[in-house]
Amino acid sequence: RIATVRGREVLDSRGRPTVEAEVVLDDGVRVHASVPSGASTGRHEAHELRDGDLSRYRGRGVRTAVANVRDLLEPAVAGLDPTRQEEVDAALIAADGTPEKSRAGANAVLAVSLAVARAGACSRGIPLWQHLIGDEDPVMPRPMINLISGGLHARRNLDLQDFLIVPVGAATYPEALEASSAVIEATGEILRERGLSTLHADEGGFGPALAGHRDALELAATAVERAGLRLGDDVAFALDVAATHFQDPATGLYDLTAEGRVVDAAGMVDLLEGWMREFPIVSIEDPLAEDDWDGWKLASERLGRSAQVVGDDLFTTNATRLRRGVRDGAANSVLVKMNQIGTLSETLALAELARAAGYGIVVSARSGETEDDALADLAVAARGGQIKVGSLTQSERLAKYNRLLRILDEVGPHTALPRWEWAWAR
Ligand code: PGA
Ligand code: ZN
Repeated sequence: RIATVRGREVLDSRGRPTVEAEVVLDDGVRVHASVPSGASTGRHEAHELRDGDLSRYRGRGVRTAVANVRDLLEPAVAGLDPTRQEEVDAALIAADGTPEKSRAGANAVLAVSLAVARAGACSRGIPLWQHLIGDEDPVMPRPMINLISGGLHARRNLDLQDFLIVPVGAATYPEALEASSAVIEATGEILRERGLSTLHADEGGFGPALAGHRDALELAATAVERAGLRLGDDVAFALDVAATHFQDPATGLYDLTAEGRVVDAAGMVDLLEGWMREFPIVSIEDPLAEDDWDGWKLASERLGRSAQVVGDDLFTTNATRLRRGVRDGAANSVLVKMNQIGTLSETLALAELARAAGYGIVVSARSGETEDDALADLAVAARGGQIKVGSLTQSERLAKYNRLLRILDEVGPHTALPRWEWAWAR
């Protein structure tokens, strides 16, 4: 049974406050879990409660959320069985009582939800992924790994937010890491030769001052070849356009500063199609803004023929929005971020909904992360076969990547990565 639940304010990878929850069971099990925080957040995400007290952490303190863990959430779940996650999450949702979890704060709610899951796994004596997965077989996720950052994660050197590599040829998770590391090393080498910065952006990728988006793609292609890997066959590319964050709210147009032009939705799709012909881009996230449903339909028809089209800001891990997307033909895959919705049960239910609709599932970290590694277990339990955590260079990212190496030793015969579905359509 759950005895006590307490919160504390800890810091994330940007040095900003976030919520950690500690759960103690009456048999003495004591575990904690902490939650991440985004920078390029979607408007429809669950509410992250910040104190707004400008005398501390520029208003980003989470003391109110931490107090809510003790005053609002502990009374709701104390005495419950920690292995019954759905019951616990339902109690948390009821205690908050708002659609956006704005009363307790989604950061407080998720911290408790995750800590309870970990306590449940602990008391059953099994790994977290196994605790979450029920009777299904685990699926190891193929990582899509951040190579070059732009947008809000790198002071807007480029408009597009992430240039990622997908080790599509790797048959196992360790092979995927090895190929990705080789491309990252080669990229660093090329940047140094060109006299460009190799400093890291928020997710640990490079954030150099490049001439433009095409330059980033060419750099990545050169790096793959220099690493001795086959472009498109061993390593392909993914983009997180994060278009919400350079859409002009007044006109609905997309302001591509690095391209020196302003385009409409069709213009965005033209641009992306052009890059897809030239480079092995097999996955595109948020090619259009979060409420540009008409544009999304067009993008999904045209780009979705040969690429995974992923909704992040579009869906915000929200079942209502995903259902609308499925109905309207927006995207063919969903990015899954626990803190966009606020409980583990709702996150897993969203993955089930996506699977039933034939949508791809990419479990994702946030740009602000902690050393908590539950995301790795979630990715295996969600069985989507894909995870997006950032680069291979910072410990808040490696907590997840290295946890997956440990999980590899726990999954018995299920070590193979699922086949990558999307090929470069030249
Ligand atoms: P965020 O970025 O965590 O800053 O939202 C991640 C993403 O957009 O995928
Ligand atoms: Zn995104």
